[in-house]
Amino acid sequence: MTQSQEHYIALEDKHGAHNYHPLPVVLAKGKGIYVWDTDGKRYYDFLSAYSAVNQGHCHPKIVKALTDQAQTLTLTSRAFYNDSLGEYEKFITEFFKFDKVLPMNTGAEAVETALKLCRKWAYRKKGIAENEAVILFATENFHGRTIAIISASTDPDSSGGFGPYLPGIQVIDYNNTYALEAALKANPNIAGFIVEPIQGEAGVMVPDEGYLKKAAELCKQYNALFIADEVQTGIARTGRLLATCGNCNCPEKNCSGTPEVKPDILILGKAVSGGVFPVSAVLADDEVMLCIQPGEHGSTFGGNPLANKVAIAALEVIRDENLAENAYQLGKIFRERMGKIDSPILETYRGKGLLNAVVINPFEHEGKKKTAMDVCLKLRDNGLLAKPTHDHIIRFAPPLVITEEELNAACDIIEETILSFGQN
Ligand SMILES: Cc1ncc(COP(=O)(O)O)c(C=O)c1O
Repeated sequence: MTQSQEHYIALEDKHGAHNYHPLPVVLAKGKGIYVWDTDGKRYYDFLSAYSAVNQGHCHPKIVKALTDQAQTLTLTSRAFYNDSLGEYEKFITEFFKFDKVLPMNTGAEAVETALKLCRKWAYRKKGIAENEAVILFATENFHGRTIAIISASTDPDSSGGFGPYLPGIQVIDYNNTYALEAALKANPNIAGFIVEPIQGEAGVMVPDEGYLKKAAELCKQYNALFIADEVQTGIARTGRLLATCGNCNCPEKNCSGTPEVKPDILILGKAVSGGVFPVSAVLADDEVMLCIQPGEHGSTFGGNPLANKVAIAALEVIRDENLAENAYQLGKIFRERMGKIDSPILETYRGKGLLNAVVINPFEHEGKKKTAMDVCLKLRDNGLLAKPTHDHIIRFAPPLVITEEELNAACDIIEETILSFGQN
């Protein structure tokens, strides 16, 4: 029997750790771009599980891959070979044009893997003295929640109270190649630079045109690895297969993205599985990847048969349904629509493809101070789900299978909601 939404919320509140602050809505079903709550109300999903559900909820092809494999073989561990891992490794390395892949499960694990790989490379190839390697991170970064990763965070909510932190980390300004060059020049022990091509959690911060290319060139010049964390931006979200694709807009069908900026290490997660199953991947060429030898890194679930089949299906959907191109075209329409909203509470909007954000000016409505959260609550009431990042930014990232008609209908809801706050 379905209970009230309050019931489910109270259950989580009582028995679950309080490490999230969800929007009060209890979801029970998803299909394509829509989700339904336990009362049967339908919403446009404009978060897509933080860009994990790029292919839409419960995509039949991906679900079939999961259920078929689930009845055959789910887990072998890497103690033995299995008959789907090699097939998946061949598929994903050809898809993204790297020699090798190291399969993991979550985004944070893949980032940890990349950091370990970078350090190994620094000691084995670059010749940095043991324990001296330093990895550069950007301000306002978000790479996950492990101790190593939060040691580089500039967000006190992420890192505060979790010390002592990992050494061998230096934080430099995002979107600033002068800061990068200065850091690289000052310290020969810099092993690499890890960066999000667009900072999602920071509020969809899009760097200047040419930033990534220049950053990659500087890393090459100073013999440091350029590590792209595309956990959120990858897999067609920004209108390209990868956000590091530079000016490639993936116009042709079957474009598998020839990156203008080819990272030394590419980190993928989230939509690699279409949100069906935790799958992440670290890709690199042999020169880097073979620095890790048997026994030096691994995961019980990484490379499991379910993940392998799901990831192949999820990437085929991206390619066959031309989702990079759809995200590119509809992203333009989305930003055009946001640009036409004339409201004092809408400070600005920005984004690429279908990874966008609007910035909300703090405002008063009916005598009360309001924030982006209040706008999200009203959007929910009006049938669209989105979540604030920080107090004043709302990220809009629908599944990439959305049509132009659906996008316009969703934009109508966003516009009406924002305008309703403008009228005191
Ligand atoms: C850029 C980036 N890296 C890493 C992560 C961590 O991924 P996960 O939550 O799967 O550990 C995220 C999650 O939002 C992310 O946006």
